[in-house]
Amino acid sequence: MVEDIPYVRYPNVKLGKNAVIEPYVVLGVPPRGSEAGELELVIGDNAVVRTHSVIYAGTTIGDNLSTGSGARIREDNVIGDNASIGTLVALENGHRIGNNVSIHTAAILGEYSVIEDNAFIGPRSLFLNDPHPRCPRYTECLGAPHIKKGAKIGALATIFPGVTVGEGAIVGACAMVTKDVPAGKVVIGSPARVVKDVSELTCMKGFYSRPYEWEG
Ligand SMILES: CC(C)(COP(=O)(O)OP(=O)(O)OC[C@H]1O[C@@H](n2cnc3c(N)ncnc32)[C@H](O)[C@@H]1OP(=O)(O)O)[C@@H](O)C(=O)NCCC(=O)NCCS
Repeated sequence: MVEDIPYVRYPNVKLGKNAVIEPYVVLGVPPRGSEAGELELVIGDNAVVRTHSVIYAGTTIGDNLSTGSGARIREDNVIGDNASIGTLVALENGHRIGNNVSIHTAAILGEYSVIEDNAFIGPRSLFLNDPHPRCPRYTECLGAPHIKKGAKIGALATIFPGVTVGEGAIVGACAMVTKDVPAGKVVIGSPARVVKDVSELTCMKGFYSRPYEWEG
């Protein structure tokens, strides 16, 4: 029976009510330099953690977490409620993530980004944090991307170090975003350029008078 296949739970994992933890998950991995159980992993109520996901100790996650298969969440992450962390997402350490954030399949987020409430991070998007790779002082340099409330990052987009994507902005699929994106704008291309306002988008099927009216 699949229910009999265990998952690995290190000491000092605080798991809320009604959790569904699938086989082969590993919870509370000690980061390098720490002992098993030295750091706490906190996950709120109603978590669904799918098979082969790995979550490190030193991270705190709110209620209603859902992971796809093989998601990896490193240490020192703080993630709010209703997070969806997709299949094969690699979330390195040090992120600060708000509520209702979804990070889609195979996105790779380097360290220390800030992602505010209701943001959408598209499949296979990539967040950078070192402008000159292997710089010994990259953590003091430009920093990681900052994605403001309700912004959407399209599939395969690359967000460069220190870039802020403004509130409600949309980054088109495959864009290379090297400069800040103003709130409410759509950017596309490499390097990404503003092409329109989000309010100018049209719904090709006519389901809505305009896209995102559903957000109110
Ligand atoms: C950027 C985006 C929001 C623009 O939406 P839109 O304005 O309704 O798009 P349109 O289809 O009307 O395209 C307008 C023009 O921009 C081009 N274009 C659209 N998206 C583009 C992109 N990401 N990169 C380059 N060009 C793009 C179109 O080819 C079209 O060019 P044309 O005027 O020469 O024909 C949308 O195309 C996009 O990339 N959305 C993200 C999709 C995604 O990644 N979803 C993830 C979940 S599956």
